[in-house]
Amino acid sequence: MAKINPLTRAFVASLLFAFHSITLCRATETSIDPPQLLSNAKREFKIEKRYLNIPIKNGAPKRKVTTLVDGRALVINDIEVADATPDWWAFMDVSAWHGKTLTLVVDKLPEDSTALSAVEQSNSIKDAKDIYHEPLRGQFHFSSRRGWNNDPNGLIFFKGEYHMFYQHNPYGWGWGNMHWGHAVSPDLVHWQELGDVLAPDDLGPMFSGSAVVDWQNTSGLGQPGRPAQVLVYTAAGNPFVQCIASGADGRSYTKFSGNPVVPHIAGGNRDPKVMWYEPGKKWVMVLFVDVGGANTIHFLSSPNLKDWTVMSHIESFAECPDFFQLPIDGDASNKKWVLTGASSEYMVGSFDGTTFTPETPKLPGHRGTGFYAAQTFSDIPGNDGRRIRIGWLQTETHGMPFNQSMSIPMELKLTTTPEGPRLTWTPVKELESLRAHSWNFGPTTLQPGSANPLAAAQAELVELRAEFDPGDASEVVFNVRGATIVYDAKKQEVSVNNHRAPAPLGGGKLQLRIYCDRAALEVFASDGLTYVPVPFQPKAGDLSLGVQVKGGSAKFTALEVYELKSAWR
Ligand code: FRU
Repeated sequence: MAKINPLTRAFVASLLFAFHSITLCRATETSIDPPQLLSNAKREFKIEKRYLNIPIKNGAPKRKVTTLVDGRALVINDIEVADATPDWWAFMDVSAWHGKTLTLVVDKLPEDSTALSAVEQSNSIKDAKDIYHEPLRGQFHFSSRRGWNNDPNGLIFFKGEYHMFYQHNPYGWGWGNMHWGHAVSPDLVHWQELGDVLAPDDLGPMFSGSAVVDWQNTSGLGQPGRPAQVLVYTAAGNPFVQCIASGADGRSYTKFSGNPVVPHIAGGNRDPKVMWYEPGKKWVMVLFVDVGGANTIHFLSSPNLKDWTVMSHIESFAECPDFFQLPIDGDASNKKWVLTGASSEYMVGSFDGTTFTPETPKLPGHRGTGFYAAQTFSDIPGNDGRRIRIGWLQTETHGMPFNQSMSIPMELKLTTTPEGPRLTWTPVKELESLRAHSWNFGPTTLQPGSANPLAAAQAELVELRAEFDPGDASEVVFNVRGATIVYDAKKQEVSVNNHRAPAPLGGGKLQLRIYCDRAALEVFASDGLTYVPVPFQPKAGDLSLGVQVKGGSAKFTALEVYELKSAWR
């Protein structure tokens, strides 16, 4: 767990002293209406069970909640605790402190609040039976059991599992209290959420970062034959610095005692993405650094993940950089480097081990909305070394005990276009394991006024694949559970619920793939050149699917619908 600096320790000691004789001290002396606020109300628990279930009311005042174990303050969170009936229950895994005394101290709690007395010690998460069945729970998009998520962090394959860490507020529906959540998957599709692995400490909340396997034990944090998985993250205190944590079992991680490993450089420097650079036998970090209002990516190197030197920097993107090499058109002898930022804009260029030289201007990334801070996996096995990316999908899920989600995993490639090399995005093939039922309606030719060929298909979770030559049709219009996806043949553009994107024909045909879940729609066009993610909540009762053409006939070489099953087992 987090180490506590002497100042924090002194503060906590004084708190404890104050509690010695009186449990609840009144901050204000006189008025009785509205309820008085108690300073540092506390409740002690002898830990015998796995969780503390904590009542949350969205929008309630945020109160400082300090968790002390055997008198030591371990973490302070700002929590919208429910003074009366909660909207939902957050949980804190307290199993690490079995047999110890845990004290929750809540500052400025109204005297008539039931928040502390309602906290339950239990071996189960309250209302656990509903988890993954909630009406707005993405069924093949990852979201956390409880609370808020934003960026994916530390995406990595390690010891036979894909790991996804992520920015997590375990105690709130909105952003805050940044922890690293953790989930694992055998196949990128079925995820199992484990507990949070990094909690805020005296260096600050745990902001975004990456993970690597230190195969050669350059850091000394592993053991012979037991390489360490090293998490590289930003501690977003005052100032922001870069830190590491390590573990060898894929489950528990220990923060490095010598943190930070990169001191403050400038501005809100953050979001380290680290990779092994084989030609130079060194680690390379790309780091977002705001230099006097200019967005730069700094390139740092290290022999051991602990000692870092700035090598170069480039003015480019804001936040969450990623940097990787890809073959062009699959040709291993012709590779280029790609530098991207949180918006998913990117540049293609070359890297000599010190400096990145862009060979393209900044190119647009996704063409939809609500997709941000994507990251690619490190250490993917296999000779093909797929480059797989997951992004934060900003699906707002009001009324749910969780909020936001992740995109589906996509494979990135570089492909030659008349304008130069461009990234393509393709849903990973593992998603096909979710197909429960299929309808094949192609090949077919549609004319204006043709009966809807998809009328027989109905599905809640949808994958739709089409390939067509628009012929003399001016528009090909798909309906997927109330979402409208239009191909404008003249402009060679696709529009997804009015988000327009270029979608060039290839060999006279357009390939389209549409995924629809309970809170998101993701559309891929033009062999992956165009990716249009859109937060979208279909009406529960509307399972309709349709396609029609306007202005002329279009020839479909493929038209398939798959009903998908939930990825939550
Ligand atoms: C991007 C971001 C990162 C930061 C994190 C904090 O969404 O702002 O730059 O590390 O979120 O949660």
